[in-house]
Amino acid sequence: MGIIFTVKFILFYLLIVCNLIYSKKLTLPELDDINSKKINECQRCKVLVDSFNYWFDKTSRGKFEGGDTAWEESKLRSYARSEIRLVEIQESLCSELHKYQDHCYSLTEEAEQPLEKWWLDKDPNSIDLHTWLCIENLKYCCPENHFGFSCEPCPLDKDNKLCGGHGRCNGEGTRKGNGSCECFKGFTGHSCGECAQNYYRADTYTCEPCHKTCDGCSGAGADACEACKEGWKLEGGFCNDIDECSDANTCKPNQFCMNEEGSYACKSCDKSCKTCAGPGCSNCTSCGPGAMFWSGVCVDSKLKDVILAETLNRVILYLGLLLIIILITKISHALASLVVLIVAAYIYYSEKNSTMNVVYVISNLYF
Ligand SMILES: *[C@@H]1O[C@H](CO)[C@@H](O)[C@H](O)[C@H]1NC(C)=O
Ligand SMILES: *[C@@H]1O[C@H](CO)[C@@H](O)[C@H](O)[C@H]1NC(C)=O
Repeated sequence: MGIIFTVKFILFYLLIVCNLIYSKKLTLPELDDINSKKINECQRCKVLVDSFNYWFDKTSRGKFEGGDTAWEESKLRSYARSEIRLVEIQESLCSELHKYQDHCYSLTEEAEQPLEKWWLDKDPNSIDLHTWLCIENLKYCCPENHFGFSCEPCPLDKDNKLCGGHGRCNGEGTRKGNGSCECFKGFTGHSCGECAQNYYRADTYTCEPCHKTCDGCSGAGADACEACKEGWKLEGGFCNDIDECSDANTCKPNQFCMNEEGSYACKSCDKSCKTCAGPGCSNCTSCGPGAMFWSGVCVDSKLKDVILAETLNRVILYLGLLLIIILITKISHALASLVVLIVAAYIYYSEKNSTMNVVYVISNLYF
């Protein structure tokens, strides 16, 4: 009882330790990612503004609860844009964040003066905090579709579109960048007007990926390839899989080759083989030194002796069981039938689990 409990306890303990190690592995890079992730100054300012808005909402009901409604309403109105509320918001600023909290705090001091000015002097309906703080005062961001030190507008193409509608302008929304187009997936070119490598033009506005076998194409489908990807060759208008395994020298002598779509793999032969045509010990085509082909597998003389001894043991056991069945038959036929069933099942499973089954061994006895 005591021992079983101890063993259970140890297993439970190991399970927890394993879990801890495993979960640590999973969460560590994630944490690292959050702490070391570089966000630009504009994103940092947005984080601060979002935090401000969060606490603005949180404090919207103020401290006045219960009591005279009219009195309460007038109090609330005077609280809405009061210095008390501003101080409350500023005290909580950034504290709710899990991500980018350090980035947020690093900006609070710099943002304090402009925040106060906006809160006390500006109409929030005519200028929002992001515009006031991030664009106009701290000068970390630009308005949408503007870029660079002095917030120039992103260049438009001849159709008055930004990068053909298929990209963003470099530095967009920040005080950085050079305004050149950064195209979305599938597009390329100065104003993202062309299809990227391995994409074809589906209609005026869209580029679609080529068939997976193509390296460049004129349209959809496997028959539109202009050239083939590595591992495929052009035959009769299609890219067909190259069977790398048809060349006997693709893999090393003690490996076998497996052809895959567009590629191939070399896998090691079973250690009993010298050369082989597939996995496992029964796919050997030749045997290593000291071993010989016997009953379809490579067997050295030691293993052969072991197998023969094992087989002999089993044969004797089976004969013994047969004898018992014969004896039981003399007592009761019904009981004998039952025993035959049990013995048959036993023989079936023990043969299935043995290195080599009796029939193989006997049929190969003289090879
Ligand atoms: C603009 O900047 C990007 C990366 O920051 C660069 O790859 C690109 O060549 C630049 N374009 C011009 C026109 O300078
Ligand atoms: C022998 O190789 C073939 C493929 O070449 C495979 O299907 C079969 O399972 C292999 N035999 C064993 C016993 O692994």
